[in-house]
Amino acid sequence: MAHDRCPARLCVWRLLEVWGPAFTIVLSTDAPQGLALAPSAFPSIFFWPPARGACRLAGIKEFVLVMTRRHALVTGGAGFIGSHLVDLLIARGFDVTVLDCLSPQVHSDAEVDADGWPVYLNRAARRIKGNLLDRGVFEASLENVTHLAHLAAYVGVGQSMTEIANYTRNNTLASAAMLETLSLVPHTVKRIVVASSMSIYGEGQYWRRSTKEYVAPSPRSSRQLERRIWECKADESSEEELEPVPTTEDKPLQPASIYAINKRDQEEMFLVVGRALGIPTIALRLFNTYGSRQSLGNPYTGVAAIFIARLLNNEAPLVFEDGNQKRDLVHVRDVASAFATMLEDDKPMWKAFNVGTGNAIAVKDIASTLARLLNKDIAPRVLEKYRVGDVRHCFADISKIRREFGFRPGTSFDGGMKELIDWVEVARKPRDRSSESMSELVQYRLVV
Ligand SMILES: NC(=O)c1ccc[n+]([C@@H]2O[C@H](COP(=O)([O-])OP(=O)(O)OC[C@H]3O[C@@H](n4cnc5c(N)ncnc54)[C@H](O)[C@@H]3O)[C@@H](O)[C@H]2O)c1
Repeated sequence: MAHDRCPARLCVWRLLEVWGPAFTIVLSTDAPQGLALAPSAFPSIFFWPPARGACRLAGIKEFVLVMTRRHALVTGGAGFIGSHLVDLLIARGFDVTVLDCLSPQVHSDAEVDADGWPVYLNRAARRIKGNLLDRGVFEASLENVTHLAHLAAYVGVGQSMTEIANYTRNNTLASAAMLETLSLVPHTVKRIVVASSMSIYGEGQYWRRSTKEYVAPSPRSSRQLERRIWECKADESSEEELEPVPTTEDKPLQPASIYAINKRDQEEMFLVVGRALGIPTIALRLFNTYGSRQSLGNPYTGVAAIFIARLLNNEAPLVFEDGNQKRDLVHVRDVASAFATMLEDDKPMWKAFNVGTGNAIAVKDIASTLARLLNKDIAPRVLEKYRVGDVRHCFADISKIRREFGFRPGTSFDGGMKELIDWVEVARKPRDRSSESMSELVQYRLVV
């Protein structure tokens, strides 16, 4: 994006960014003759000292690089959220490259083409099948890239508690390798948005009535959970129940699973290294995202997808605790829109933002809404059991992203769920793997 202060010129450069040919414009803010074109593949030629010297002789004192084509690299772009982001970026005039390893756990139930790519993936995107952990793969995919959206990750909270090394390698180490590449090799990346997660908060934010203060409670004690007392207390010795309130970004981070620790590390690493490299970087703390293309066969992800898989197999959705734990379900289109807005913006910043709806819904109400929409007379089965790593309540305060970027989710809960059902009904019938995942949780003593 141009660092040009004149609004009229900035407007022209913005238009060129979207519609211009594959050229980079190099201009001087001091002299009109300082305008030149270079093929986008070699924009840095004007910063090559001899070329710079020659320009100085011609009276050009200062340079601003304007990339005429915006080119986004979306890691994990074949996945659920990534593929929606790819569609939106293409619609907004970006060139897009997708880098994805097509992890079998995510893609084995999806309809794929002859090369193994999901058929829903936008055909206008360049595709690179590769793993971020493999040497040289990320570097090779950076060609001409101006914007980086990093979404690739293993995403199963429960699974991360048994496959600890595997998750940490794939999520944290892969991010470290990417950042090292960005700091060592020449590239044209000028903005980064990384997918973080609400899971890094651990328990959400609460209000303590007796002392009139916001609190971040510790995880519930095993003594409390064995007694099936589900609500968070002010402290172990107290009977005072805390009142859940929307969670703000400044709430202390208390990740309660390996996945959450990975996401926190990933967020902090990107913000710190992005700042050190002078590349504006934003971490989006996504709340529970739902929508079409969600993996229906993967037992480790989205609650709505898992419940639909159960209901379609005429089985009751399995609900942990008493089912009154509250979450914030945000539609994938709104999440993609938050990513695209952050990528398109040119404010230099290194910050984290919540992306949710700001509305809380109880888990058992998600199950009954889905049963109603699927015309199934099946009530959720309330297990009265605790799954290790689960928090009681967590829903978003979205005032920060609204204030700074005008973000407002546009999809209602019922509307979004209806859309999800419509998609599920035409998608392949999912294999319900909840029983397998439950046996694993029991085997590893991750459910009490
Ligand atoms: N879905 C949610 O509710 C949610 C909530 C919070 C945060 N997030 C974050 O959003 C991002 C996307 O999540 P999603 O739900 O779309 O997941 P997904 O599993 O559908 O997509 C992830 C994609 O990344 C790919 N991938 C994984 N490891 C890779 C690697 N090492 N190299 C290349 N590709 C790799 C997978 O093949 C997959 O296509 C993740 O970072 C996740 O942590 C998701």
